[in-house]
Amino acid sequence: MPAYAIIGGQWGDEGKGKVVDFLSGEADIVARFNGGNNAGHTVITDLGEFKFHSIPVGILRPSTTCIIGNGVVVNPDAFLEEIYSLQARSVDVSRLCISDRAHVIMPYHTMLDRLEEGIRAEGGGALGTTGMGIGPAYMDKAARTGIRMVDLLDEKALLTRLSFVLEQKNALITKLYVGEPLSLDETYEKCRVWGRELKDYIKPVEPILQEALAAGKRIILEGAQGAMLDIDHGTYPYVTSSSSTVGGACTGLGISPKHIKEIAGVYKAYTTRVGTGPLPTELNDEIGDFIRKRAWEYGTTTGRPRRCGWFDAVAARYSVDINGITSAVITRLDVLDGISPIRVCVAYRLNGEIINRFPTNASTLEACEPVYEDLPGWEKPTASARNIADLPQEAVNYVERLEQLMGCSIDVISTGPGRDEAIIVRSMF
Ligand code: IMP
Repeated sequence: MPAYAIIGGQWGDEGKGKVVDFLSGEADIVARFNGGNNAGHTVITDLGEFKFHSIPVGILRPSTTCIIGNGVVVNPDAFLEEIYSLQARSVDVSRLCISDRAHVIMPYHTMLDRLEEGIRAEGGGALGTTGMGIGPAYMDKAARTGIRMVDLLDEKALLTRLSFVLEQKNALITKLYVGEPLSLDETYEKCRVWGRELKDYIKPVEPILQEALAAGKRIILEGAQGAMLDIDHGTYPYVTSSSSTVGGACTGLGISPKHIKEIAGVYKAYTTRVGTGPLPTELNDEIGDFIRKRAWEYGTTTGRPRRCGWFDAVAARYSVDINGITSAVITRLDVLDGISPIRVCVAYRLNGEIINRFPTNASTLEACEPVYEDLPGWEKPTASARNIADLPQEAVNYVERLEQLMGCSIDVISTGPGRDEAIIVRSMF
């Protein structure tokens, strides 16, 4: 059972990139299972900083095979740009493959994402999407009008399919949004070029995964976004369009749950969210600004400032439960150095009543007030600590309290952006 899932436990940007990079040193395969280039995973190595959007972080390890699963939606231009920039830094990308079942983010998807978001914004209901065409691409997948990677390799059939789909899309673009239609010739030509440039990467990935599992190799299942942005379990409709919880790892790669040995949930020591939607512990004050500045909480993909808040243990507990998290990782503990007291949301108050359950309705969550417990902060820096004994007692108490509230053991504490800046309490492998 050698697959290990890495899931974002909050609203994304928890630091999964660093965790996957750290673990991939001892992995044979790293496989991305959801989302697209809306994701932004940052890794810092001796070679400097790398930002990944579609490509699994494991590519930085010289012998790790990297897979983009069928659950991912791929923008070929963005993918190729990432490939070229990795090659320019002498990273070997020959160990990378894309599932032939993965859906393509087409030019009309990015266009429609922005047009739809514009209409929603006019009505005061913007979702704050990344504008990368993610929602429209998954819509087409569900509507069975998507173009898959495998379609790029069959130029004749592609033309028939694209003619049909583009007619529908152009009707939508011109009649509903009063935009400019896309040319069939140009779109088809783009697809042909993509097919030729990507053909060596596109293949069935299930056999690679099945053989690796049978041989007892270690596979990291790399999630994007976070549980609270999951299409089913997140703060709908303020969510992304994919399954960012552990179920997505199985459907997004074609592997059975029985192969998953550990499910690691990555949580920041506080909370952030980018885009709109409820965030009960949001700090619209100087502490929120301080956290944003100190931690440079700006989106890797869009550059938007992230909304910052205290740790929400109600939401964290919910994400532990829906994912069956076996091992939690706390990141960016060092950001809280010097802040005192540190508040943790232990319940919500709704219409005068205390509730401990994460509500289904975004509007209900919006109406929830956090019930805080204050914990003493610490003065001594935790940055770069490598052992629990290096942490001030107040930081240990904070981590232990989160552990109790989440109902899950915290096995790794990340104390800085560098590869080795972490305290390993229990190794997942
Ligand atoms: P979409 O995924 O672009 O459709 O955006 C839907 C929502 O998910 C927006 O609120 C985005 O800000 C958020 N989102 C999407 N990807 C990420 C991510 O990687 N980190 C954090 N938020 C994200």
